[in-house]
Amino acid sequence: MGPIPSYGAGSHVLLFPFMSKGHTVPLIHLAQILLRRSISVTVVTTPANHSFMAESLNGTVASIVTLPFPTATNIPAGVESTDKLPSMGLPLFYEFSTATSAMQPHFEQLLETLVPRVSFMVTDGFLWWTLHSAKKFRIPRLVYFGMSCYSTSLCMEARSSKILSGPQPDHD
Ligand SMILES: *[C@@H]1O[C@H](CO)[C@@H](O)[C@H](O)[C@H]1NC(C)=O
Ligand SMILES: *[C@@H]1O[C@H](CO)[C@@H](O)[C@H](O)[C@H]1NC(C)=O
Repeated sequence: MGPIPSYGAGSHVLLFPFMSKGHTVPLIHLAQILLRRSISVTVVTTPANHSFMAESLNGTVASIVTLPFPTATNIPAGVESTDKLPSMGLPLFYEFSTATSAMQPHFEQLLETLVPRVSFMVTDGFLWWTLHSAKKFRIPRLVYFGMSCYSTSLCMEARSSKILSGPQPDHD
């Protein structure tokens, strides 16, 4: 790994939250913190979520970029946020999340044309494909999870130690 670059005033940060309130709101707060440090911020959203984003960032100099939301078999047209899904069942949620990968060509076109060039991006873990785009354009990418560092670490540990897999004793 090379030296870790430092970022400050004049940097340009791209934020791409997952279309779910619990994932979007913290990144809007991050946008405001970055803006206070004179860092340029571009937030990526979809048409139906644009007004929520515009209201949330009203009065700031953040740029909002809209990428078309993909059509998917079981996602009703105009639903571009998990709180609008007819159910939060796993199949539909899974389809919603995987459908986002169809935004990749639009996202990469954006990375190519944004000026100034993006210094680094913070994108949601559910938008896993943004990592591939980041690598392609040699833009550092930080992954964002809606959960805290503690609960994320706990989940990773539980998975690797397999403590929750297999049959569980009744008293556990
Ligand atoms: C867009 O996203 C916001 C925040 O997650 C949500 O409140 C709103 O309902 C969404 N709009 C649509 C049409 O999906
Ligand atoms: C932003 O705030 C101004 C002044 O409060 C208001 O007139 C305008 O409608 C707001 N715009 C959005 C997109 O919320």
